[in-house]
Amino acid sequence: RIAGPSVLVLFGVTGDLARKKLMPAIYDLANRGLLPPGFGLVGFARRDWEHQDFAQVAYEAVREHARTPFREDVWRQLSEGVRFVPGELDDDAAFDRLAETVRELDEQRGTGGNYAFYLSLPPKLFPDVVRQLKRSGLSESDERSWRRVVIEKPFGHDLASAQDLNQIVDDVFPPQSVFRIDHYLGKETVQNILALRFANTLFEPIWNRGYVDHVQITMAEDIGVGGRAGYYDGIGAARDVIQNHLLQLLALIAMEEPTSFGADALRAEKEKVLSAVVLPRDLEGATARGQYAAGWQGGSKVRGYLEEDGIPADSRTETYAAIKLEVDSRRWAGVPFYLRTGKRLGRRVTEVALVFQRAPHLPFTTTETSELGHNALVIRVQPDEGVTLRFGSKVPGTAMEVRDVNMDFAYGASFTEASPEAYERLILDVLIGDPPLFPRQEEVELSWRILDPIIEHWAETGKLDQYRSGTWGPASADELLAREGRVWRRP
Ligand code: BG6
Repeated sequence: RIAGPSVLVLFGVTGDLARKKLMPAIYDLANRGLLPPGFGLVGFARRDWEHQDFAQVAYEAVREHARTPFREDVWRQLSEGVRFVPGELDDDAAFDRLAETVRELDEQRGTGGNYAFYLSLPPKLFPDVVRQLKRSGLSESDERSWRRVVIEKPFGHDLASAQDLNQIVDDVFPPQSVFRIDHYLGKETVQNILALRFANTLFEPIWNRGYVDHVQITMAEDIGVGGRAGYYDGIGAARDVIQNHLLQLLALIAMEEPTSFGADALRAEKEKVLSAVVLPRDLEGATARGQYAAGWQGGSKVRGYLEEDGIPADSRTETYAAIKLEVDSRRWAGVPFYLRTGKRLGRRVTEVALVFQRAPHLPFTTTETSELGHNALVIRVQPDEGVTLRFGSKVPGTAMEVRDVNMDFAYGASFTEASPEAYERLILDVLIGDPPLFPRQEEVELSWRILDPIIEHWAETGKLDQYRSGTWGPASADELLAREGRVWRRP
């Protein structure tokens, strides 16, 4: 799979995402030989830059963040296709210059008139860009070339705004040309959920309410809000990652086997799951919401959320959220799915754990089994990528003592190639035009339908607890599980 002749037009080149992820990913793709020799990268921003200034910014981003080793010849070839167009998003003349620049690139580098527009911008700016792409003729392709638009989350603020946003994009680009990025779907370990489930006979027979007691989906971060106050405040943990990454994980874990891995089949199965999700009636008892206070992390003292730069001292934004959901289907009825995410938690870890029911009968005494918990299958998404199967085993010795042990699959031990960065995979898929790893609008809307009532509930009750940085979240999150006789895993 190699991208054909194409140009990527990047809006938001001065942002964090462009510098840390997108430009390095483009270089890594080039370095792996997956981009065509004439590939073009055009930056657009409100900066007084020449082409070489942008090339320098890209160079620094690549040197600092690329995964693959730096190769002068690869960079030279890539940088020959780098252009920059300065301008405001509401400036017609700037977009006319952009159109001119990509046409020139076509002639100089043979990019075939194929353009992907990557909107690494806050959604409130989408309407301007999309309108300008249309007005300047950039969104129009002939029958030999393609146009694609890539949009980053957040896909709206709630269901209504997601629908409005979609309307704007949909007026200009047909659905098959719209690529919504949820970078979790680009992660190897997330794609592996489907391989684990459907390439094996071992797991699927027990992947249901007959065996699974509950499912825990955890996305914990040790970082705080950092320099992203402007984006994060007012958004919060639920909108930032539950609406997208965590509900996508839930969909992959709970879905039925698709008839193929084609985009339509895959998305249809995920949508079935999302539409079968039901909220508990008692939203108060089934959710937790918190904000980090000062504390210690990795041996250093860290500030609380309200003391962070750019955060209003009276902010009510949550940096932690936990919710309990159920999937009303024959496979899952009655099995709780607990989702949690937070910043400034004990450590950075994302995992999905299927926690199984206890054996119906144990022929051992309780002292012999005191350390025997539930069997669990843990998909370690990051950073320690792999899969763990946890089960009871006899402790060597003269007594019949049983204790939990782990059987581990670690990527590093089985595969020599390092996993590509999620953005590498996704940018390549955009350029190839391969959509399965991109959620479509229906999934976005279904996810907001799940989340909107919870967020409204929080707004009504004012529910927001504090938790000390470096811990595992507010006590209310532990109580959420304790009420049901369960505990969160400590990854
Ligand atoms: C982003 C969120 O989507 O994912 C961030 O906006 C979060 O708040 C990030 O830090 C985490 O991504 P990853 O790949 O490091 O788990």
